Amino acid sequence: MKKSANKTLTTKQIALAAGVSVGTVSHVLNGSATVSAKLKKRVEEVIRRLDYQPSQLARGLRGRTTVLLGVIIPDIKNPYFPSLVRGVEDVAFKEGFRLVLCNADNDPEKELTYFNDLRSFNPAGIIVIPSESSRIGRATAGDNIQIIFVDRCPSWWKGDAVVANNENGGYQVGEYLARMGHRTLAAISGPSHIETARERIRGFKRALAEAGIQLQARYVQEAQFNTEGGFAAASQLLSLNPRPTAIFASSDMLAIGALEAARAMKIRCPDDVSIVGFDGLDFVDLIEPALTTVFQPGYHIGSLACQLLLERVRGVNHPPEQKMLNTELCIRDSVRSLLPRKKSK
Ligand code: GUN
Repeated sequence: MKKSANKTLTTKQIALAAGVSVGTVSHVLNGSATVSAKLKKRVEEVIRRLDYQPSQLARGLRGRTTVLLGVIIPDIKNPYFPSLVRGVEDVAFKEGFRLVLCNADNDPEKELTYFNDLRSFNPAGIIVIPSESSRIGRATAGDNIQIIFVDRCPSWWKGDAVVANNENGGYQVGEYLARMGHRTLAAISGPSHIETARERIRGFKRALAEAGIQLQARYVQEAQFNTEGGFAAASQLLSLNPRPTAIFASSDMLAIGALEAARAMKIRCPDDVSIVGFDGLDFVDLIEPALTTVFQPGYHIGSLACQLLLERVRGVNHPPEQKMLNTELCIRDSVRSLLPRKKSK
């Protein structure tokens, strides 16, 4: 049986066994100063041989930051978020940091409770996908914990952030559907209290306006970002007269719900109605018909956010960076062209 790590050992004992000073052991453990390769190897060998495990708890109690990174996300069941968290985790793990994942349910109170709990563990940093009325970042004066916002960046947040260009993603859908000859259009928006949801619809409307199409209010339904929301919203939209020829569902789960609603009403996609999603989840090219969607680079957002955060943790001091990554329209099989066919000669 594998022995558990030796928690009673102290850095003093490691130093004695390696024949170096306690300061040298501490520098090797923290990477806080250059130690010669020879000494570093000697200390690391003793650490391995004696199975020494530095206590994060003790570090926290001494007021020093630990190797913990907190990640607060709004909904662990939303399939967009795992790839973003995976991007964070890949960078964090490689750099010797460990994640604590918190699910805040888009609830500012729950979010703040998690945030304060995390602070009590002295994490090196916290990565937050903030809820609309988030109080995180407003109540942190005096902390040396680094914070970065991802996915959503409220206008009052002046710190580091990494988001996708949601507005342009919505624009890409509107422009494409207009170019495919659609004129009677509908949209399923995510909850209007979520900034990304509002931005997508804003971009969609802007593209339609540029094409001379007005999106009527009754052709826009708001829903939770899930299949049930998509089903209910699409059932309403597909009952309108005239029926929309295309629906922009502003998440892939909404689009899957919309496809189910169309199927239940014996309305075929894409023959009778075109449907476009948003997210670019891994599996949506496998559904029938393969979903045309906007890919947002969740993994890249997460990994970049973690890199920026760790730069701050290491003391890099530059003005706040707010980065916006591009989205990409992935054209598959769920949109039909309504353009007149060219006559073959
Ligand atoms: N897709 C579904 N929900 C969300 C969300 O909250 N943010 C982003 N960026 N994409 C989503």
